[in-house]
Amino acid sequence: MRSLDEIVGEANTLFNSISDTTELEQVKARYLGKNGELTDLLKALGKLPAEQRPAMGSQINQAKDQLEALLKDRRLFLQEKKLEEKLKEEALDVTMPGRGHDKGGLHPVTQTLIRIESLFHSIGYEVASGPEVETDFYNFTALNIPENHPARAMHDTFYIENGDLLRTHTSPVQIHFMLENKPPLKLIAPGRVYRCDSDVTHTPMFHQVEGLWIDEEANFAALKGVLTNFMACFFERDDLSARFRPSFFPFTEPSAEMDISCVKCNGNGCRICSHTGWLEVLGCGMVHPNVLKHVDIDHAQYVGFAFGMGVERLAMLRYSVSDLRLFFENDLRFLKQFN
Ligand code: PHE
Repeated sequence: MRSLDEIVGEANTLFNSISDTTELEQVKARYLGKNGELTDLLKALGKLPAEQRPAMGSQINQAKDQLEALLKDRRLFLQEKKLEEKLKEEALDVTMPGRGHDKGGLHPVTQTLIRIESLFHSIGYEVASGPEVETDFYNFTALNIPENHPARAMHDTFYIENGDLLRTHTSPVQIHFMLENKPPLKLIAPGRVYRCDSDVTHTPMFHQVEGLWIDEEANFAALKGVLTNFMACFFERDDLSARFRPSFFPFTEPSAEMDISCVKCNGNGCRICSHTGWLEVLGCGMVHPNVLKHVDIDHAQYVGFAFGMGVERLAMLRYSVSDLRLFFENDLRFLKQFN
């Protein structure tokens, strides 16, 4: 029979020659497993004379403890080595240049909104907002569009289940603002609007900017002045001419549509202006007394004007974009040109 020292010595050399943790556990079984060498020795104790058993037993147990300690050391050593190798392998070179370092930018529609806001802000207009899901009252009734009024059919409204709707224009913000604030008022309201309409020149969602001025002396001449000036600043064109054509909106009286001289051909006629020399850019008018009644503003004391413009339309004209759908397709080759 081999001496215990011999066994421990051999196991030690063996353990240290192994560099794989699973293999180490397999080799352990040779000594300490069910049929391991030390286990066998313990089993054989019974065959020894009774007086030798305690001493021999404790020696074998000591050898067992030694082996366990050796195994533990080796295990720890292998784990640390493995970790070190992994760290070396996964090291990050933080000095390497990044791959996609393109800068993001604001969408052309957002840039246009910001431009419109800042121009009106500079002449004292406050920026207001309202909900995109509206009630019938705010979108229609309070704007002097009663039920069964033919103007409702023009709006191609998206209704939701409870009878509410997606606002078809930013005009309901006028109502919110007038109910919450006392005149004089001067505001613009930029935002998304929705119409059940989709073709080459219409998208189901687009942006408008609403304007409202309620005062004791607002008048049509001021309306024309503010809007003509705004368009000249927006397009950076001193020579821009404007004209106001009579029109109809239920919430304004009189109502007008504003045209500006074509920014492409300066009024000479081209494809953009359908060879008329003019571009239609917004709707406007003096606030209808019925609208003021709905929001409890004394229409004998106060008058006001309102206007509403399409943001995509202005963006297309300013940036010479020929297809409205480009704004919504988010093709990076298109968007990158606006950074
Ligand atoms: N709300 C109208 C539209 O969407 C525009 C408008 C606003 C006209 C304010 C007059 C006054 O067409």
